[in-house]
Amino acid sequence: MLSNWTPDSWKKCPAAQQPAYADVGELNEVLAVLRRLPPLVTSWEIDRLREQMAEAQRREAWVLQGGDCAESFLDCTAETIASKIKVLLQMSLVLLFRSKRRIIRIGRIAGQYAKPRSNDFERRDGVELPSYRGDLINRAAFTAEHRHHDPALLLRGYERAALTLNFIRGLSEGGFADLHHPENWDLDFVANSPECEKYHELVRSLRDALAFIDTISPTPRRELERVDFYTSHEALHLAFEHALTRQSVRGTGWYNLGTHFPWIGERTRDVHGAHVELLRGIRNPIGIKLGPRVTGEEVIDLLRILNPQNEPGRITLIHRMGHAAIGTALPPLIEAVNEAKRPVLWACDPMHGNTVTTEDGKKTRKFDDILGELNQAFHIHRHCGSWLGGVHLELTGERVTECIGGSSGLTEDDLGAAYNSFCDPRLNYEQAMEIAFAIADRISQS
Ligand code: PEP
Ligand code: CO
Repeated sequence: MLSNWTPDSWKKCPAAQQPAYADVGELNEVLAVLRRLPPLVTSWEIDRLREQMAEAQRREAWVLQGGDCAESFLDCTAETIASKIKVLLQMSLVLLFRSKRRIIRIGRIAGQYAKPRSNDFERRDGVELPSYRGDLINRAAFTAEHRHHDPALLLRGYERAALTLNFIRGLSEGGFADLHHPENWDLDFVANSPECEKYHELVRSLRDALAFIDTISPTPRRELERVDFYTSHEALHLAFEHALTRQSVRGTGWYNLGTHFPWIGERTRDVHGAHVELLRGIRNPIGIKLGPRVTGEEVIDLLRILNPQNEPGRITLIHRMGHAAIGTALPPLIEAVNEAKRPVLWACDPMHGNTVTTEDGKKTRKFDDILGELNQAFHIHRHCGSWLGGVHLELTGERVTECIGGSSGLTEDDLGAAYNSFCDPRLNYEQAMEIAFAIADRISQS
């Protein structure tokens, strides 16, 4: 057992980015209901993911993590979920085929409903209301009623996560994910894009390879017919995460059974804070976001606290520096981790350090900045003797116009056409595939 940790010990620590509920009695009633509901994932699945993350640390596998910045309850539909899974499956196929490494697929999905905010309040035309903090806490529309922090939404979030996971499990186990039928993952647009042509060429080669395998070994191979698909979200809402923190039935310890891979955000990774304290005691693999201002010392403190036994697969450091800062901000962190001989998996989030606001107030990201940061990340890790083992992206399978650039040449003027994100701008299908092709070969070279 970890020293001084209990499932409640976080309550004594400073907690950033928490909602302010007007009626604590109502919150406690909701939490009591939540605590009785069954877990969303199992400790066996979590242990398997931790082992796979350890494989990625040993350079045998690679992590593809992606999905919405914020999932919305309204978007819990068959089309939205399936198209996200389709893009991630297509990207993982490109990465697998070209890098010759197993790909660990993790969605920002089935629970990514809470967002950190820079300001507690938002002002529009002289009216001030609480900021939108994600559907788990309040609603996006700018009215007092919608922005009220409502504890009942925690139950709606749990239910949406369960519905989403149920569909994902059906898709990953059944015929949908069968490598023999990648046509199931086709999305019905951008048929003429260069990425589409390249992708279909790859699928033709895959068909040949599979036909060869099936000829020499006609017994069906289960691993070609199904995929592992894991879930992740930012472990932000402490009371909610606490309600899903449970002891495994087989006595292997405490787990967050609301998601496979919780991560700690850039704004809540205070070593003395409540988020680090709550996650310290669970067995899940954990991600930690690192922005350009973090110091090597802080990183080592986090590793000491969150992974005292130096367990492989336990910690993924997700750097999100921005294309302009990564060159100076990342090398000292790698050096500190190398020197302390702390085992970690490094992943690059090339999204969150590259957000810019246009003149008319739209948040966007430039494709070239995103790809630029990724390319630098590969280069820096190689130079420092470490290994970039994964990528963390905000993307969607829908035809959105939220990020600028890419081979389809989206410009600032196009942003209005389909800007659907409630939060940060996401790569669309075509842009996401372009990233997959761009980095696939670099993995095997690094
Ligand atoms: C996010 O992943 O949506 C996010 C808020 O990231 P970060 O904590 O890195 O800013
Ligand atoms: Co985001």
